[in-house]
Amino acid sequence: MSTTEPRGLFLTFEGLDGSGKTTQMHLLAERLRHAGRRVLVTVEPGGTAIGAKIRSILLDRSHAGLTPEAELLLYFASRAQNIDEVILPALARGEIVLSDRFADSTLVYQGFGRGLGEEAVRAVERVACRGLKPHLTVYLEIDLETALERARARNQAAGGRETRMDEQSAEFYRRVAEGYRILIGREPERFRVIDGRRTPEKVAEDVWHAVAPVVGADSD
Ligand code: TMP
Repeated sequence: MSTTEPRGLFLTFEGLDGSGKTTQMHLLAERLRHAGRRVLVTVEPGGTAIGAKIRSILLDRSHAGLTPEAELLLYFASRAQNIDEVILPALARGEIVLSDRFADSTLVYQGFGRGLGEEAVRAVERVACRGLKPHLTVYLEIDLETALERARARNQAAGGRETRMDEQSAEFYRRVAEGYRILIGREPERFRVIDGRRTPEKVAEDVWHAVAPVVGADSD
Protein backbone atom coordinates (compact mmCIF):
# COMPACT_ATOMS: atom_id res chain seq x y z
CA MET A 1 0.00 0.00 0.00
CA SER A 2 1.36 3.42 -0.90
CA THR A 3 1.82 5.96 1.86
CA THR A 4 1.89 9.00 -0.41
CA GLU A 5 -0.04 12.14 0.41
CA PRO A 6 -2.54 11.11 3.03
CA ARG A 7 -5.12 13.85 3.61
CA GLY A 8 -5.19 13.83 7.40
CA LEU A 9 -2.61 14.83 9.97
CA PHE A 10 -0.34 12.44 11.79
CA LEU A 11 0.80 13.62 15.24
CA THR A 12 2.92 11.54 17.60
CA PHE A 13 3.79 11.73 21.28
CA GLU A 14 7.25 10.77 22.49
CA GLY A 15 9.13 10.80 25.77
CA LEU A 16 10.78 8.68 28.40
CA ASP A 17 8.67 6.19 30.34
CA GLY A 18 6.56 8.15 32.82
CA SER A 19 6.71 11.43 30.87
CA GLY A 20 2.91 11.70 30.92
CA LYS A 21 2.50 11.40 27.15
CA THR A 22 -0.44 8.97 27.30
CA THR A 23 -2.44 11.30 29.56
CA GLN A 24 -1.55 14.28 27.40
CA MET A 25 -2.46 12.54 24.18
CA HIS A 26 -5.95 11.72 25.50
CA LEU A 27 -6.43 15.27 26.80
CA LEU A 28 -5.48 16.61 23.38
CA ALA A 29 -7.82 14.17 21.64
CA GLU A 30 -10.69 15.37 23.83
CA ARG A 31 -9.96 19.00 23.12
CA LEU A 32 -9.63 18.43 19.38
CA ARG A 33 -12.96 16.58 19.30
CA HIS A 34 -14.48 19.43 21.24
CA ALA A 35 -13.18 21.75 18.52
CA GLY A 36 -15.04 19.63 15.98
CA ARG A 37 -12.14 17.60 14.64
CA ARG A 38 -12.30 13.88 13.83
CA VAL A 39 -9.58 12.20 15.84
CA LEU A 40 -8.22 8.68 15.96
CA VAL A 41 -6.02 7.62 18.86
CA THR A 42 -3.58 4.73 18.67
CA VAL A 43 -0.74 3.26 20.71
CA GLU A 44 2.55 1.50 20.01
CA PRO A 45 3.29 -1.24 20.49
CA GLY A 46 -0.36 -2.24 20.04
CA GLY A 47 -3.11 -0.38 18.23
CA THR A 48 -4.58 -3.48 16.57
CA ALA A 49 -5.60 -6.94 17.82
CA ILE A 50 -2.40 -8.40 16.36
CA GLY A 51 -0.38 -5.50 17.77
CA ALA A 52 -1.82 -6.10 21.24
CA LYS A 53 -0.53 -9.68 21.11
CA ILE A 54 2.88 -8.46 19.99
CA ARG A 55 2.83 -5.93 22.84
CA SER A 56 2.23 -8.65 25.40
CA ILE A 57 5.24 -10.60 24.06
CA LEU A 58 7.43 -7.49 24.17
CA LEU A 59 6.53 -6.34 27.66
CA ASP A 60 6.26 -9.73 29.40
CA ARG A 61 8.81 -9.81 32.24
CA SER A 62 9.36 -13.54 31.72
CA HIS A 63 10.81 -12.73 28.26
CA ALA A 64 14.17 -11.49 29.52
CA GLY A 65 15.79 -13.68 26.85
CA LEU A 66 14.26 -11.75 23.94
CA THR A 67 17.23 -10.67 21.81
CA PRO A 68 17.62 -7.00 20.80
CA GLU A 69 17.17 -7.94 17.12
CA ALA A 70 13.99 -9.94 17.80
CA GLU A 71 12.72 -7.03 19.89
CA LEU A 72 13.43 -4.55 17.07
CA LEU A 73 11.52 -6.66 14.54
CA LEU A 74 8.56 -7.14 16.86
CA TYR A 75 8.18 -3.39 17.47
CA PHE A 76 8.17 -2.84 13.72
CA ALA A 77 5.84 -5.79 13.11
CA SER A 78 3.31 -4.17 15.44
CA ARG A 79 3.83 -0.82 13.69
CA ALA A 80 3.52 -2.20 10.13
CA GLN A 81 0.16 -3.76 11.07
CA ASN A 82 -0.99 -0.56 12.76
CA ILE A 83 -0.04 1.54 9.73
CA ASP A 84 -2.05 -0.52 7.24
CA GLU A 85 -4.97 -1.42 9.45
CA VAL A 86 -5.50 1.81 11.37
CA ILE A 87 -3.26 4.80 10.60
CA LEU A 88 -3.37 5.06 6.80
CA PRO A 89 -7.12 4.45 6.50
CA ALA A 90 -7.78 7.19 9.10
CA LEU A 91 -5.42 9.60 7.32
CA ALA A 92 -7.12 8.80 4.01
CA ARG A 93 -10.47 9.72 5.64
CA GLY A 94 -8.89 13.08 6.56
CA GLU A 95 -8.77 12.44 10.31
CA ILE A 96 -6.18 13.60 12.84
CA VAL A 97 -4.26 10.56 14.01
CA LEU A 98 -2.59 10.75 17.43
CA SER A 99 -0.10 8.00 18.22
CA ASP A 100 1.34 7.23 21.64
CA ARG A 101 4.90 6.57 20.37
CA PHE A 102 6.04 5.76 16.83
CA ALA A 103 9.32 5.08 14.99
CA ASP A 104 11.31 7.66 17.01
CA SER A 105 10.80 5.38 20.02
CA THR A 106 12.44 2.47 18.22
CA LEU A 107 15.34 4.64 17.12
CA VAL A 108 16.06 5.76 20.66
CA TYR A 109 15.16 2.64 22.67
CA GLN A 110 16.52 -0.04 20.33
CA GLY A 111 18.98 1.99 18.23
CA PHE A 112 20.55 4.03 21.02
CA GLY A 113 19.40 2.27 24.22
CA ARG A 114 20.03 -1.32 23.12
CA GLY A 115 22.95 -0.24 20.94
CA LEU A 116 21.64 -1.73 17.67
CA GLY A 117 22.62 1.46 15.89
CA GLU A 118 20.66 3.82 13.75
CA GLU A 119 21.36 2.10 10.42
CA ALA A 120 19.76 -1.18 11.47
CA VAL A 121 16.67 0.61 12.76
CA ARG A 122 16.36 2.79 9.65
CA ALA A 123 16.63 -0.29 7.41
CA VAL A 124 13.66 -1.99 9.08
CA GLU A 125 11.79 1.32 9.27
CA ARG A 126 11.94 1.60 5.46
CA VAL A 127 10.22 -1.78 5.14
CA ALA A 128 7.66 -1.29 7.90
CA CYS A 129 6.74 2.40 7.57
CA ARG A 130 7.29 2.96 3.83
CA GLY A 131 7.99 6.64 4.23
CA LEU A 132 5.21 7.47 6.70
CA LYS A 133 6.49 10.20 9.01
CA PRO A 134 4.67 12.26 11.63
CA HIS A 135 3.78 15.83 10.63
CA LEU A 136 4.48 16.90 14.19
CA THR A 137 5.87 15.21 17.30
CA VAL A 138 5.23 16.36 20.86
CA TYR A 139 8.19 15.49 23.06
CA LEU A 140 7.44 15.62 26.77
CA GLU A 141 10.67 16.30 28.56
CA ILE A 142 11.31 15.00 32.07
CA ASP A 143 14.60 14.40 33.85
CA LEU A 144 16.07 10.95 34.19
CA GLU A 145 15.41 10.72 37.94
CA THR A 146 11.72 11.51 37.48
CA ALA A 147 11.49 8.97 34.64
CA LEU A 148 13.05 6.21 36.75
CA GLU A 149 10.91 7.05 39.77
CA ARG A 150 7.69 7.06 37.74
CA ALA A 151 8.66 3.87 35.90
CA ARG A 152 9.25 2.07 39.21
CA ALA A 153 5.98 3.33 40.66
CA ARG A 154 4.13 2.18 37.55
CA ASN A 155 5.99 -1.11 37.73
CA GLN A 156 4.66 -1.71 41.26
CA ALA A 157 1.15 -0.56 40.40
CA ALA A 158 1.09 -2.97 37.43
CA GLY A 159 1.71 -5.85 39.84
CA GLY A 160 4.37 -7.37 37.60
CA ARG A 161 2.59 -6.89 34.28
CA GLU A 162 4.28 -4.97 31.43
CA THR A 163 7.47 -4.42 33.33
CA ARG A 164 10.19 -5.73 31.04
CA MET A 165 11.22 -2.30 29.74
CA ASP A 166 10.75 -0.54 33.08
CA GLU A 167 13.42 -2.72 34.62
CA GLN A 168 16.15 -1.25 32.45
CA SER A 169 19.14 0.42 34.06
CA ALA A 170 19.65 4.13 34.55
CA GLU A 171 22.42 3.89 31.95
CA PHE A 172 19.93 2.54 29.39
CA TYR A 173 17.58 5.47 29.99
CA ARG A 174 20.49 7.90 29.79
CA ARG A 175 21.23 6.63 26.27
CA VAL A 176 17.53 6.83 25.37
CA ALA A 177 17.32 10.46 26.56
CA GLU A 178 20.49 11.29 24.63
CA GLY A 179 18.99 9.65 21.52
CA TYR A 180 15.90 11.86 21.78
CA ARG A 181 18.11 14.95 22.10
CA ILE A 182 19.94 13.97 18.91
CA LEU A 183 16.70 13.42 16.95
CA ILE A 184 15.24 16.72 18.18
CA GLY A 185 18.45 18.55 17.22
CA ARG A 186 18.19 17.17 13.70
CA GLU A 187 14.51 17.97 13.12
CA PRO A 188 13.66 20.98 15.28
CA GLU A 189 10.77 21.91 12.95
CA ARG A 190 8.99 18.58 13.57
CA PHE A 191 9.47 18.35 17.34
CA ARG A 192 7.68 20.46 19.96
CA VAL A 193 9.58 20.07 23.21
CA ILE A 194 7.38 20.60 26.28
CA ASP A 195 8.39 20.55 29.94
CA GLY A 196 6.54 17.51 31.32
CA ARG A 197 7.43 18.03 34.99
CA ARG A 198 4.56 20.42 35.70
CA THR A 199 0.92 19.65 36.49
CA PRO A 200 -1.00 17.80 33.74
CA GLU A 201 -3.22 20.91 33.26
CA LYS A 202 -0.23 23.20 32.63
CA VAL A 203 1.39 20.69 30.28
CA ALA A 204 -1.91 20.27 28.42
CA GLU A 205 -2.10 24.02 27.81
CA ASP A 206 1.35 23.99 26.19
CA VAL A 207 0.48 20.94 24.13
CA TRP A 208 -2.64 22.69 22.87
CA HIS A 209 -0.74 25.87 21.94
CA ALA A 210 1.83 23.76 20.07
CA VAL A 211 -0.74 21.72 18.16
CA ALA A 212 -3.64 24.14 17.54
CA PRO A 213 -1.93 26.16 14.77
CA VAL A 214 -0.94 22.98 12.96
CA VAL A 215 -4.50 21.62 12.95
CA GLY A 216 -6.00 25.00 12.13
CA ALA A 217 -7.79 25.38 15.48
CA ASP A 218 -8.03 28.50 17.60
CA SER A 219 -5.20 28.27 20.13
CA ASP A 220 -7.01 30.30 22.87
P1 TMP B 1 4.75 2.86 26.88
O1 TMP B 1 5.37 3.07 28.21
O2 TMP B 1 4.70 4.09 26.06
O3 TMP B 1 3.47 2.08 26.91
O4 TMP B 1 5.78 1.92 26.06
C1 TMP B 1 6.09 0.67 26.52
C2 TMP B 1 7.59 0.44 26.51
O5 TMP B 1 8.00 0.05 25.20
C3 TMP B 1 8.42 1.64 26.90
O6 TMP B 1 9.38 1.25 27.86
C4 TMP B 1 9.12 2.02 25.64
C5 TMP B 1 9.19 0.74 24.88
N1 TMP B 1 9.28 0.87 23.42
C6 TMP B 1 10.46 0.53 22.77
O7 TMP B 1 11.43 0.13 23.40
N2 TMP B 1 10.52 0.65 21.41
C7 TMP B 1 9.45 1.07 20.66
O8 TMP B 1 9.54 1.14 19.43
C8 TMP B 1 8.22 1.42 21.35
C9 TMP B 1 7.03 1.87 20.58
C10 TMP B 1 8.18 1.30 22.72
